[in-house]
Amino acid sequence: MSEKKYDFGLVGLGVMGRNFILNVSDNGFKAYGYDLDKEKVKALQKEGGDLDSVNATSDLKTFVSSLELPRKIMLLVPAGKIVDNVIESLLPVLDKGDLIIDGGNSLFTDTDRREAYLKDKGIHFFGAGVSGGAKGARKGPSIMPGGSREAYKEVKPIFEAVSAKYKGEPCVAYLGPKSAGNYVKMIHNGIEYGLMQLTSEIYDVLKKAGDLNNSELHTAFHSWNKGRLQSFLVEITAEILTKDDDQGSGQLVDKILDKAKQKGTGKWTSQNAMDLGIPIPSIDIAVSMRELSALKADRLIAEKLYGKLKPTTLSKEKLVTMAEEALYFSFIVTYAQGLHQLSEASEEYGYDLDLGTIAKIWRAGCIIRAGLLADITKAFQGNKQLSNLLLDPSFSKEIKETLDAARQLVSYGALNGIPLPGLSNSLTYFDAYTSGRLPLNLIQAQRDYFGSHTYERTDKDGIFHTEWEA
Ligand code: 6PG
Repeated sequence: MSEKKYDFGLVGLGVMGRNFILNVSDNGFKAYGYDLDKEKVKALQKEGGDLDSVNATSDLKTFVSSLELPRKIMLLVPAGKIVDNVIESLLPVLDKGDLIIDGGNSLFTDTDRREAYLKDKGIHFFGAGVSGGAKGARKGPSIMPGGSREAYKEVKPIFEAVSAKYKGEPCVAYLGPKSAGNYVKMIHNGIEYGLMQLTSEIYDVLKKAGDLNNSELHTAFHSWNKGRLQSFLVEITAEILTKDDDQGSGQLVDKILDKAKQKGTGKWTSQNAMDLGIPIPSIDIAVSMRELSALKADRLIAEKLYGKLKPTTLSKEKLVTMAEEALYFSFIVTYAQGLHQLSEASEEYGYDLDLGTIAKIWRAGCIIRAGLLADITKAFQGNKQLSNLLLDPSFSKEIKETLDAARQLVSYGALNGIPLPGLSNSLTYFDAYTSGRLPLNLIQAQRDYFGSHTYERTDKDGIFHTEWEA
């Protein structure tokens, strides 16, 4: 074995960890893994082949002493208490100036707490969201790091080498201080929830209104993926629709139970949006729909009780065109909401985020990668003050061109009993956001009526109260 120590350490050799560490070693960095599970250690040693480039152990001291100083140790372990436990076990054996990187989907407030705790002990702590699933971790994920800018320099060459590339540009960049990296990853996931919900609604309406079979659905998604809707989620949807059921006949998708699980990042996005006072209804409804999907037994009883409308059939060709436009419209609106939340969080938490850079590192590697992100990048690079994508002139053109289809599809869904809540929330958000006057004057009057909460006027400055009762 050569004398040179290992450049990078990784704790947690599960699917993500194993793939990520192999990616690091593929890119010419010596990497050392650590996992208490000896089977995982052996599996990595076998898959890596050359122990001089990638090795692993279940012994903490061996792990730590094998790493070059300052140590760069990434944790790819489940979010929550386990992260704290790993940190506690590492602390006695680390040196000042070492860097711990949490690559999991940790809650951003946990990252802030850990960063402050470790700073006192002279250890740098980074929250770095990693997106792209197992394949991304192996072949090039999008990485969203936040923490001390100084410490980032240590890990920058490794992250840039292992990340996905968009036209040669790495899909990683220093995003900001403290928990900026985990926060951005949380919003990425919120947008992911929104886009997945929208895609599922379009799949549903094409089936119910146009009677498209799986092969026709595949053709629609596949062709959309060659156009402006080009994205990872549209691409995998097309693929999913052709996958045969190896335990029966037909396609597997039809046999999958309609209850979606969640690990929490979408919910955190919604909870935090409420705290910040930023409306993100396309994402909120995606979280609610996962919750509603879980009520399967109730849904079956309610369907019997109320019955189901028989949707009127639409021409397949017209429907596919309308669905593409409506999906594109609502994709834009969903990105707009997530990015708006980022812009507010940047102020509130002092992240100093650059939305152009964030859109840029989402162009490849991550789950929400899409052709659309190249234009979103341009919009935010062109106007650093842009708080909402809907205010960008080139997006307003795209929105105007697709708005009518969104209206038609949402109306069709409402009249025919097909739930399209993501599409409808995107449309309603758009209609409200573009209304110079909303009926909230009445709410102010009601508040003042029953609680003397006061109101402002449109024609005079000041705070007013009225004795409403005659
Ligand atoms: C990614 C994903 C990933 C996330 C899964 C599952 O960017 O690679 O966001 O981090 O964990 O998508 O999330 P849910 O279980 O909440 O759907």
